Amino acid sequence: MQSAKTCSTSYLVFGASLRAESLNKRLATLAARVVEEIGGTVVHASMSDFDCPSYNGDVEAGEGIPAGADRFRSKLVSTDGFIISCPEYNASMPGVLKNLVDWVSRYKPQPLKGRHGLLMSASPSMAGGNRGLWAFRVPLEHLGARIFPDMFSLAQAHEALGDDGRLRDVKLQTWFEGTVDCFIESVEAAKHYPAIKSQWIEFLGERPNPATERVEVTEIQPV
Ligand SMILES: Cc1cc2nc3c(=O)[nH]c(=O)nc-3n(C[C@H](O)[C@H](O)[C@H](O)COP(=O)(O)O)c2cc1C
Repeated sequence: MQSAKTCSTSYLVFGASLRAESLNKRLATLAARVVEEIGGTVVHASMSDFDCPSYNGDVEAGEGIPAGADRFRSKLVSTDGFIISCPEYNASMPGVLKNLVDWVSRYKPQPLKGRHGLLMSASPSMAGGNRGLWAFRVPLEHLGARIFPDMFSLAQAHEALGDDGRLRDVKLQTWFEGTVDCFIESVEAAKHYPAIKSQWIEFLGERPNPATERVEVTEIQPV
């Protein structure tokens, strides 16, 4: 485990379920605890903080971007990374979460670009909601987020989470902590040792056209 002295990064952490007894909220709470044990700072949130009406271009044009998406944007840009525990609905991501991503993608600059993210899921099923995470990666990576290659899916989560909030299986708990720790190390490295000049282009391969293109370039500042 990384020592508290070397960890200077902060993370938005939430479970992407509106349900009071959500398994994903419980897994997100455990992730937050591990981040704090490593020495990171946690910004706690809940899916209800980010509640938005269904995306509608007319509403956007008339009323602007809703407060829920604005709260999500401000928490994204004030932290170094995010950890989301995401339920799987019908082998994909929940509609409320996709709707939130759609709304927040309308900001310029687009706030998911270059953000570091760790995805996890909890489900009573044997697959742990892993297919939903693969679906969730697609819009996030399209928007230029740096999604950690390893994802954590907790199978039979209703039995796997103990009353103390940790995973009953000690080996699985160690594996979980290792995943969070490796993610934090990668964010620390990216924050302190930026090695690439990155750019995000909404539609790669499209003929450059100032009327339609959205291209954002990140200049690397010396540390
Ligand atoms: C509409 C709907 C679709 C679901 N589809 C899946 C699914 O494809 N795979 C799965 O593992 N669980 C599925 N589930 C079960 C959820 O994983 C389970 O309800 C879980 O507890 C939801 O997450 P939460 O506890 O964080 O609210 C589905 C549940 C609902 C309500």
